[in-house]
Amino acid sequence: MATLLETQHLQKAFGGLIAVADVSLRVAEGTIHSIIGPNGAGKTTLFNLITGKHPPTSGTVRFKDQDITTLPVHRRAHLGIGRSFQITNLFPNLTALENVRLAAQAMGRDNFRLFRRAATLDSYLRRAYEVLDLVGLRAEALQLASSLPHGGKRKLELAILLAPDPQLLLLDEPTAGLATEQVPELIAIIKQVQARGGKTIVLVEHNMNVVMNISDQITVMHQGRVLAEGTPSQVAADATVQSAYLGELYGDFGGKQ
Ligand SMILES: Nc1ncnc2c1ncn2[C@@H]1O[C@H](COP(=O)(O)OP(=O)(O)O)[C@@H](O)[C@H]1O
Ligand SMILES: [Mg+2]
Repeated sequence: MATLLETQHLQKAFGGLIAVADVSLRVAEGTIHSIIGPNGAGKTTLFNLITGKHPPTSGTVRFKDQDITTLPVHRRAHLGIGRSFQITNLFPNLTALENVRLAAQAMGRDNFRLFRRAATLDSYLRRAYEVLDLVGLRAEALQLASSLPHGGKRKLELAILLAPDPQLLLLDEPTAGLATEQVPELIAIIKQVQARGGKTIVLVEHNMNVVMNISDQITVMHQGRVLAEGTPSQVAADATVQSAYLGELYGDFGGKQ
């Protein structure tokens, strides 16, 4: 499978603290690739290096065979890298539909044109409905974002991310804060986004059941480095991962699958 995203010896130091020490990663197109590891392992920082929020101290990021290491955030977004935002990025007093339509429009090419063609505006609206459909929020399209339950807000967040049709989605703990019974639905949606939308997804996730279930590939990070890598069964069977880290961190995850 073609490589969509690749990092080579990425490093990020914040003063004396090395958050990402040395991460070389290959994400194959069309796959769900999970990054796991304890708090402070450097997962979110790795995302920030991929999206361009932080420049790396050293190393490179390549996307679609292009070196994007020094590109600003918006240029990477236009190339097709989408990242989940915090819930606070929702416009609470707009409807779910308006939130998604604005997200589609914000990335449209004619963003700064005074007179937009009606056909283009129509296409943003169509796109908004399409995406709401995909995440299972169509029935709530005309509800205010603020009135959606927590699970609905997470779906809306995903819809906003999907609206501009990014090729790569970076999801940082999408199930955080969800009630246990809401997790399977979100997982089904993420799987559907990958399968139906042909997306590539990099996922940081703490819920090991989710990770083992959904991932094509898993990278285990520890203290800013890659500790292990492989398919879910390879990672689960990895003796280093088991004894050195996963066993104590996640308890009985190996027995659940
Ligand atoms: N902007 C920052 N400035 C200083 N230190 C940071 C910053 N972001 C992250 N860190 C530190 O880098 C380390 C890795 O953090 P993070 O990437 O958030 O880990 P994870 O997402 O795996 O929990 C932590 O010690 C954290 O405190
Ligand atoms: Mg994090």
